[in-house]
Amino acid sequence: MIMAETQFTPRVFSGIQPSGGLTLGNYLGAMKRFVQMQDAGSHETIFCMVDLHAITATLPDPATLRRNTRELCAGFLAIGIDPEKSILINQSQVPEHAQLAWIFNCIARMGWMGRMTQWKDKAGKNAEAASLGLFAYPALMAADILVYHATHVPVGEDQKQHIELTRDIAAKFNHDYGVDFFPIAEPVIEGAATRVMNLQDGTKKMSKSDPSDKTRINLTDTADEIAKKIRKAKTDPDPLPDALAGLDARPEARNLVNIYAALADIAPQAVLDSHAGALFGHFKMALADLAVEKLAPISGEMTRLMADPAEIDRILGRGAERARAITAPILDRTYDIVGMLKS
Ligand code: TYM
Repeated sequence: MIMAETQFTPRVFSGIQPSGGLTLGNYLGAMKRFVQMQDAGSHETIFCMVDLHAITATLPDPATLRRNTRELCAGFLAIGIDPEKSILINQSQVPEHAQLAWIFNCIARMGWMGRMTQWKDKAGKNAEAASLGLFAYPALMAADILVYHATHVPVGEDQKQHIELTRDIAAKFNHDYGVDFFPIAEPVIEGAATRVMNLQDGTKKMSKSDPSDKTRINLTDTADEIAKKIRKAKTDPDPLPDALAGLDARPEARNLVNIYAALADIAPQAVLDSHAGALFGHFKMALADLAVEKLAPISGEMTRLMADPAEIDRILGRGAERARAITAPILDRTYDIVGMLKS
């Protein structure tokens, strides 16, 4: 097996669905890392709005999808993705993603796809009525990553299984064709908040699709909304412990400590070192102040950027051009390996 980091240009790829609204989960679980990896300068960085993925579960209204895609681009820019340092793209504008996905549909096995927990969660009991696109979703995700020969994929914990499948697809392609062509990409799942939980139920993931807005913080929330949601977050009556083991059976308490740690860029233990003994009423005030300080400027910047959609479209057009300089030769070589005729 070829190891990604030894033979390929160090290259980071990650994507987010433009399915309406970015949450604190997206930000702390993935996007903060995007900016750190971009600024570290040790890797080429490519970030993507995955609009083709956003039509797999339901078909959004076309105007809404366009708006959500531009808003997500504004979100990337607002948190600090620099379109000069990184390549910032919308998936459908780089056609090689979908073209490579077809090849991967023929590499991946039905059994592999059927074992994906996100497929099982999203299709639910009525898999017969789910779209073929929802089933094939992880093969398109593998194509997103491998069409750049990306070596590192920063994501939240919930995407780990999809990255493992990407590795399996790369390995099977390489094996079946007797080549060392696709890298075995590494997931980068790091930090205190790789799985940010629902503010009202610490056993569920924070998600933009939860029907209750109280369960999440959106990157577009105002300072007042952020503070209010944190004040009203579910907790327990006990004070904060002095060691992490004291949070073991307290999922809501543990979630707020992790969120604090990730926002402040410190370890969860350091949060306990300075707040042990505090009651949640007091800790939540400190967390609300920190969250407002870190998040309110993002929402302001997104609003400013959304006022100029033509500029967003220009950035994405330029991103697609730069991306295709990488993806076109990789797709071309893939077709060659598979035995497609050249025109
Ligand atoms: P998506 O759009 O659901 O989420 C985008 C990123 O945010 C992370 N995330 C979270 N992290 C911690 N806690 C949470 N509560 C939380 N909610 C979301 C996700 O792990 C993800 O990193 N399939 C992907 C999009 C995708 C992709 C790719 C990602 C398509 N192609 C190629 C990486 C590489 C998805 O639906 O993410």
